[in-house]
Amino acid sequence: MKKIVVLASGSGSNFEAIVKKLHGDSCEVALLVCDQPGAYCLKRAETLGIKTLQLTLKDFDSKVRYELEMIKHLKAVNPDLIVLAGYMKLIGETLLAEYEGKIINIHPALLPAFPGRNGVEDALTYGVKVMGVTVHYVDAGIDTGKIIDQESFKRAEDETASESKEKIHAIEHELYPRVIKHLLT
Ligand code: GRF
Repeated sequence: MKKIVVLASGSGSNFEAIVKKLHGDSCEVALLVCDQPGAYCLKRAETLGIKTLQLTLKDFDSKVRYELEMIKHLKAVNPDLIVLAGYMKLIGETLLAEYEGKIINIHPALLPAFPGRNGVEDALTYGVKVMGVTVHYVDAGIDTGKIIDQESFKRAEDETASESKEKIHAIEHELYPRVIKHLLT
C-alpha cells in the first residue's frame, strides 16, 4: 500500500479528514510530523492511532539541521507523498532537494490570488464574491507551485466571514483526500 506523511502545525482538521477518508484503504498515513509542541493535531493523531514525530526548529542549530533530522525519519518511512496540512513553515532547500515533486499543499484561496498565511482574511478584506481552495505542488516560493486542483464557491449576499470560513474548511476536507487518492493511483 502507498504511504503518505502529513506535516501540520495546528488544529489538524485536514489531517483528520485525510486519515478518516483514506487510511488503511487508499493509503497508509504512516506518520504525522508536527513542528509545534502541544498542537491539537498531535492529540488527533493519538486518538486516530497515527504515529507522530514532534520536531521544534529552535532545538536545532539551523533550518538545514532541522530538516535533515526530519529527512532521517522520512527516509525510514519512504513516503510516496508528503502532504502539508496547515504546516506553517516554508519548506527549505534541504527538504525540497530530497522530495521536490512529492510535496503538496492545500491553500484556502484561489491561487495565484491571496497567497501567504492569511489567504482567507485577505480575500475577505478584498471583498471577493467567489472564494475557494487550491491544492498545489510545493516549490521554493510561497504558494507558487504548480496547481493540481481547485474548487470554488460563490459567497451568498448575506454570508458572514465565519460562514465563508466554514465552507472553505468543508471543501478542503473533501477536496484534499480526493486529490491525494488520485495522485496515488
Ligand atoms: C487550512 O485552511 C489550510 O488550507 C491551510 O491551513 C489550514 C489548516 O487547517 N494551509 P487545519 O489545521 O487542517 O484545521
